[in-house]
Amino acid sequence: MTKFTVIGGDSSADLAKRIARKLKAPYIKTEKKVFPDGESKITINRIPKKSTVLVVQSTYPPVDTNLLELLSIVSKVQKFSSKIFAIIPYMGYARQDREFLDGEIITIGVVGKLLKASGVKKVLTVDIHSKLALKELKISSENVSAMEVLVKHFKKMKMKDPLVVSPDLGGKERAEKFSKLLKTNFIALKKHRDRRTGKVSILTGKINVKNRDLILVDDMISTGGSIIKATQFLKKQKCRRVFVACTHALLVNNATKKIKNAGVSQIISTNTIPGESAKVDVSRVISDALR
Ligand code: R5P
Repeated sequence: MTKFTVIGGDSSADLAKRIARKLKAPYIKTEKKVFPDGESKITINRIPKKSTVLVVQSTYPPVDTNLLELLSIVSKVQKFSSKIFAIIPYMGYARQDREFLDGEIITIGVVGKLLKASGVKKVLTVDIHSKLALKELKISSENVSAMEVLVKHFKKMKMKDPLVVSPDLGGKERAEKFSKLLKTNFIALKKHRDRRTGKVSILTGKINVKNRDLILVDDMISTGGSIIKATQFLKKQKCRRVFVACTHALLVNNATKKIKNAGVSQIISTNTIPGESAKVDVSRVISDALR
């Protein structure tokens, strides 16, 4: 059996502790001090014994700070262990996985280079935005899905004739998986995002969702733009309630309030990003993949 040591970065300390408990592995805390100029200084409060070291740190906002902290921890640990896995439950920059407009940089590729250079041997993510992002990391990697644990949560909720909805065609596979586990059906909306302005619009025509409870399933919510447009469209089609299930709830720029105002009854997310909506724990999913 692999011997693990878990180190929790500042952005994922609670999740890291849960993973350590599940793996029956020692847990090492990190301490963080922020200088007046914004630089952070990380201290590892113990040196790991000979083992595979798991450094757990999601790279949600402040993305660059959390990423640099992760790289700093890894480069320190590299002195004591040659086997370091970066557990990055929410992987920032994963949406920058291709050159959408000429001259754009595939930043997820840059992140991969930095991880490799600092000493990471393998990366583990949860519901990364796309398979392409994982490929662009160009480092040994594995992605696990939170859909099963999210569905478990929804199974406990009382729903009327539930229908799973993906806000875009890109999320079709995810919604299909969710609906199969929930033993219901699914649809995928056709979404358009203007690459220059970021404006989102729904291109799907009339659909029959009258009096049904709907679950919008997505990998992540950032500004809420996609979910708001989808909800406004679905409400026009006379559905009953709209719930949101997502793995990563960034909820930036007052998104929660805007989403609720659009008519969403509840947002349920996982603890890849801590917050009010993070009701579902992914530590079991992660630890099972490591055993
Ligand atoms: C898009 O392809 C993603 O799956 C999400 O739907 C999107 O990135 C969420 O961003 P926002 O909440 O800003 O619309």
